[in-house]
Amino acid sequence: MNLQGKTAFVTGGAHRIGRGLVLALARAGCHLVLHYHRSAEQAQATAAAARALGVQVILRQADLSRLEDASALFTDLPSSFSPVQILVNSAAIFPKDTLTDFTLDGWSQTLRINLRAPVLLTQAFARALPQELEGAVVNITDWRTERPYRTHFTYTISKGALDAFTRAAALQLAPRIRVNGIALGAMLPPAKASEAYWQSVLATVPLARAGGTESVADTLLYLLRNDFITGEIIRLTGGAHLKMSYA
Ligand SMILES: NC(=O)c1ccc[n+]([C@@H]2O[C@H](COP(=O)([O-])OP(=O)(O)OC[C@H]3O[C@@H](n4cnc5c(N)ncnc54)[C@H](OP(=O)(O)O)[C@@H]3O)[C@@H](O)[C@H]2O)c1
Repeated sequence: MNLQGKTAFVTGGAHRIGRGLVLALARAGCHLVLHYHRSAEQAQATAAAARALGVQVILRQADLSRLEDASALFTDLPSSFSPVQILVNSAAIFPKDTLTDFTLDGWSQTLRINLRAPVLLTQAFARALPQELEGAVVNITDWRTERPYRTHFTYTISKGALDAFTRAAALQLAPRIRVNGIALGAMLPPAKASEAYWQSVLATVPLARAGGTESVADTLLYLLRNDFITGEIIRLTGGAHLKMSYA
């Protein structure tokens, strides 16, 4: 896909990894629909940084845990925008829970944001995409679906189902829409993580460092540009998936 002039929709685009993806798409010439939930100021700042790169940006505020009908997000666009051809599902939550202590409310919240919203957004995206246009979806997932955390139960289940969804959607939406994923390892420390925790995570990474946002952004652009990849989930782990023991 040639990205120049395409419209891309990014969930959770205000800050951290989402911001990196928005700015990479802007540098590649994409106009942006930047979704945020609570981070309005950071969304405005990211939009301004993207506009400074010469593209158009509109903001869309939504609580994805309450998403029922996503169609308006793809149809209600300014007339200067072409139809959305790229969807990036990055917004997610990372609650700490286990099989023995999770609550039904916690389960619902995690599954709604991390799984149900990307599914509904992909459905609405596919329905809104005009027949003559190609599309691409990239889901941001986590390699720890292969080696589950002991401490993030509902998150791991939600991302594992997102992996399955990525493959199912790739098959169902081919040949017009490609659907891929990026399974992240240690890219940025979680917002409330202690330095000691983060160092213990980095100690499990053969490349001995965090991945940062640029690595995710580069992989996103690669998956969007390469027209023969679908149903693929690329690990970005710095080699952590090769180790025999895990935190
Ligand atoms: N950081 C890592 O090293 C790492 C590792 C593995 C996987 N990942 C995955 O990479 C993606 C981005 O990670 P990150 O660390 O940058 O995320 P983050 O800092 O935790 O940010 C979460 C994002 O999700 C949005 N969000 C949360 N609840 C929402 C809701 N109810 N409705 C709508 N949006 C909501 C937030 O929007 P607002 O701030 O606007 O409210 C925010 O943009 C996630 O899918 C995460 O699972 C990250």
